[in-house]
Amino acid sequence: MRAPDPRFAGFVVPELIRRNATVRALIRDPANAEKARRLGASEVVTGNLRNPQSLGNAVEGVDGVFHIGPAFAPDETAMGVAMVEAAGRAGVRKFVFSSVIQPTNTRLKNHTSKVPVEDALYSTNMEYTILHPANFMQNIAAAWPSIVRDGVFSEPFPKTAKLARVDYRDVAEVAAIALTEARLSYATLEPCADGMHSREEIVSMMSEELGRSISAGEPTFGEWAANTRLPYDDRQLQLLAKVHEHYAKYGLGGNSLTLRCALGREPRSLRSFIRELALQTAQVA
Ligand SMILES: NC(=O)c1ccc[n+]([C@@H]2O[C@H](COP(=O)([O-])OP(=O)(O)OC[C@H]3O[C@@H](n4cnc5c(N)ncnc54)[C@H](OP(=O)(O)O)[C@@H]3O)[C@@H](O)[C@H]2O)c1
Repeated sequence: MRAPDPRFAGFVVPELIRRNATVRALIRDPANAEKARRLGASEVVTGNLRNPQSLGNAVEGVDGVFHIGPAFAPDETAMGVAMVEAAGRAGVRKFVFSSVIQPTNTRLKNHTSKVPVEDALYSTNMEYTILHPANFMQNIAAAWPSIVRDGVFSEPFPKTAKLARVDYRDVAEVAAIALTEARLSYATLEPCADGMHSREEIVSMMSEELGRSISAGEPTFGEWAANTRLPYDDRQLQLLAKVHEHYAKYGLGGNSLTLRCALGREPRSLRSFIRELALQTAQVA
């Protein structure tokens, strides 16, 4: 189990606990130990994906590993391969890799950076499950305070572009199923919620759920990046800009079939995600 990010890896922890698994969290900053324990990890190990030797302790004696790599890191590939190799050496039985939708989209370097990690898994004897999630709905949650404040939902691509999205809680549930049951072993799945929605459609859902008008903004990438103040350097921002250029031309295709099948229920919808955000806003007000 890797870094207990409350946004993503952190969602997997409660799903594992619900299935009676014991969770060991890998953190790189000891200050995060308490956060990991609060999420439900009963063991916490300090290590760093950039220091392969430190990963040996993290994986020693575990039955399964969940790995998600840091976004746009120049050495994301090396970090992922190091984790796969450490798990393989330690005799870990199961490995779940949270990759990205369309990893073979060679025009997007942050997508192809995952391919060698998947390739490394094929040359181990572990039972792997590879997840190719669509755009995370949690990106909308990050923008929510400014949406409520300004009445505008902005993304730097046309408001008519339709994107496949997924609630990461569903991805986390699939990861936990894969780690605790046999039925998803050796599967490569593409977690996507039902439907692909444009920002025009999304603001209409937001307006209905909030009971007031939200409009769709269409800033340039530079304007948007300055406003969102992402923790990225110029190189990382360039990679993200390429992703948005791609969305502008082609949107993002995705199909909910494999997620529905893996969960055995309907995936969480974008409408229900927005409803939850609106309810939280109403409760605070
Ligand atoms: N956002 C989307 O819509 C989307 C969609 C599909 C796929 N993805 C993929 O999802 C992945 C995660 O994205 P993200 O935005 O969550 O990434 P992130 O915030 O950059 O990193 C996630 C975690 O990695 C940890 N980390 C960073 N460097 C580390 C190191 N050297 N050793 C150990 N842990 C380290 C961080 O731990 P700390 O807490 O210590 O900082 C953090 O918890 C990316 O690979 C991205 O391509 C994202």
